[in-house]
Amino acid sequence: MKLKLLFVLLFVAQTVVATNTIPAVNNEENRNGHFTITPKTALVYNSTVRDVAMYLLEYIPFKQILSSNKTMPGDIFLTINRFMDEEEYRLTIDKNNIRIEGGGYGGVFNGVQTLLQMLPSEIYTKKCRLPIDVPLCEIHDSPRLAYRGFMLDVARTWLPADRVKRYIDLMAYHKLNKLHFHLTDDEGWRIELKSHPEFATIGGFRGGDSPVHPRYAKFGEKWGGYYTQEELRDIVAYAAQRNIEVIPEVDMPGHSKALGAIHPDILCNFTPNTASTNGLDIRNVWCAAKESNYAIIEDVIKELSEIFTSEYIHIGGDEVDMSQWRQCPDCQRLKHERGLENESQIEDYFIARTTEILARYGKKPAVWHEAIDGGSLPKTTRVYGWKSVKLCKHSTERGYPTIVMPGEYFYLDMKQSDREEGHIWAAIIDAKRIHSFDIDKYGFTEYQRNNIAGIEASFFSELYIANHPESNDYLDYMLFPRLCAVSEIAWSSKQRSWDDFYTALRTSHYDRMQAMGIAFRLFTPEVVYSDGKLSASVDDGSTLYYTDERNGRETRYTKPIDCRTPEYISFRSRYGTAHSRKTGSAEYLRMLTPPVTVTSSMPCSTKAPLTNPAKYTNSIARTTRAAKSGDWIEYRFAEPISCREIVVQTGHIHLRRCLFLAGYTEVCYDGKSWVRTNELSDGGAIIRPTAKIHAVRVVATTRSDAENNVVIGPLRIR
Ligand code: ACM
Ligand code: ZN
Repeated sequence: MKLKLLFVLLFVAQTVVATNTIPAVNNEENRNGHFTITPKTALVYNSTVRDVAMYLLEYIPFKQILSSNKTMPGDIFLTINRFMDEEEYRLTIDKNNIRIEGGGYGGVFNGVQTLLQMLPSEIYTKKCRLPIDVPLCEIHDSPRLAYRGFMLDVARTWLPADRVKRYIDLMAYHKLNKLHFHLTDDEGWRIELKSHPEFATIGGFRGGDSPVHPRYAKFGEKWGGYYTQEELRDIVAYAAQRNIEVIPEVDMPGHSKALGAIHPDILCNFTPNTASTNGLDIRNVWCAAKESNYAIIEDVIKELSEIFTSEYIHIGGDEVDMSQWRQCPDCQRLKHERGLENESQIEDYFIARTTEILARYGKKPAVWHEAIDGGSLPKTTRVYGWKSVKLCKHSTERGYPTIVMPGEYFYLDMKQSDREEGHIWAAIIDAKRIHSFDIDKYGFTEYQRNNIAGIEASFFSELYIANHPESNDYLDYMLFPRLCAVSEIAWSSKQRSWDDFYTALRTSHYDRMQAMGIAFRLFTPEVVYSDGKLSASVDDGSTLYYTDERNGRETRYTKPIDCRTPEYISFRSRYGTAHSRKTGSAEYLRMLTPPVTVTSSMPCSTKAPLTNPAKYTNSIARTTRAAKSGDWIEYRFAEPISCREIVVQTGHIHLRRCLFLAGYTEVCYDGKSWVRTNELSDGGAIIRPTAKIHAVRVVATTRSDAENNVVIGPLRIR
């Protein structure tokens, strides 16, 4: 009996280890027994993969390490097998040796990542002690897609180099091999240039005395940074050791407000109308007709090509505000002289000129997909399909090598459930939704499929700056486990079911991510209130806690709670570094929608009138100008209401934009007079009324942010 139990346990331990890697390996054969890595084990490597050996040495403290093409029993051997594809590998663990052979550097590196996942999760802390037993197996594996990417936007929210390197490590653990590095945008320029130092030294900082106006948060301070060329080279080398290519992006000709603010000469030749922006110039598009601009672009590309080793440089091309070219006599002359039919063809011209420059430095262009609208870009242009699956298909149909990254599956700045921080324009996206992405389901033809160059997830960071960007917590929470699901569908051809993937996630990968130090997201607990009892549950082994919001005290949840006031009790689950979002019973989550009339001192667009926020849906009112000190918005209830809290937010609901920069809220308890309650923080406040209230008012004490309108949303009343 005992023996049988032991056998069952051994069998379970063994199969769990090999099948629970993320991403899933494609072919595996598990055997009985194990190989023991001891202090005497030598790491032997073929000289081509010396850097992989040095990498592995950081995780396993080998005492002996040597370059050789021969191994002895007891060794771990890393070698090249020239009959394999570049990223293909075979990991063989038998009684005598661990052997990883790969077609190239990347193959061996991928094999090392699989080996790490088969070791105790503490391996990722780099403090694991020997000996370690590894189950015997043979794994033969290769990627489904050659391009498995992640885009990080460090332009909207600045991240120092060491933190970028941390995300490179986390990508490498998941066999992601392309870092698309979004280095410039309206909010900042992050690349040191020797030819134009002010691009970074001035354009890398927004707010304070910088000509770049603050956006999205931290309005009261000068904030930002940039990478020196030495740091960028270090990032490229660090990534290369981890089998990751860094593809830099300079987003042009649109998305260039930061640069335009310090170099207005790159912009078009017209005087902008600033009546609605309190005098601010918010133009952000390079003039396509200025020869001097192409000279600047050449300076930029020359320096980029000396730093970045990638075949492609991403030159942007998205969301160009063509009205700026329409108002520019020089761009219009260019259009007529060249017989261009529309402004999209002006963009083609701009990209063709930039492509010529790239070619002089041995680089190819990559662009966001709307850049192909003009119709003439050569098929050597790599296209990043971001808006929808449909448009990804369109790009593949036209013959462009396409990176599939439709927002509706791969934009990790989208919220992960209805009640979390995040954008909503593409979809609500959790790891399960990403895992369900299936090229076949969308009916790509074989021709279209052959033009899919890869899959990429992106993190645009305009929300991050309002969410403690000095800490990793928010970004980790937004990326994991969603990036795990991205890695699975990009790497594995096995098409493991969600249940099997989720099992691997919670039974093995949660512990690995713990050891990797990731503050990842847990799925939301279920909470039910019934017969005066509040009960909560999770299905992932995490621990539940509840908080009485009246005193803020958090208590471990062990059994259903007798409770008359479920509207005050929130729940959260935790698993070491990870946590779920805050949730509660239907009573806790319920929003009140009492009849209300909204008025304002500011005129509103007829398309987005003040009757919109009174409906308590997602629809907003939009003013026709920026706010000035003294402007106000009033919400008056038909009947006085009682509630736990009222969230007031000027600006977009999660995005700190089009909002009151400073001001206060006041409430009316008696139907006549106002009691000042809160100072605004990032355009909003949470009011906790002390009695029934008749009305709420928000009053601006300075101008609003650098936009030409203010967004007025509904109150959120609980
Ligand atoms: C993009 O999201 N504008 C590429
Ligand atoms: Zn122009």
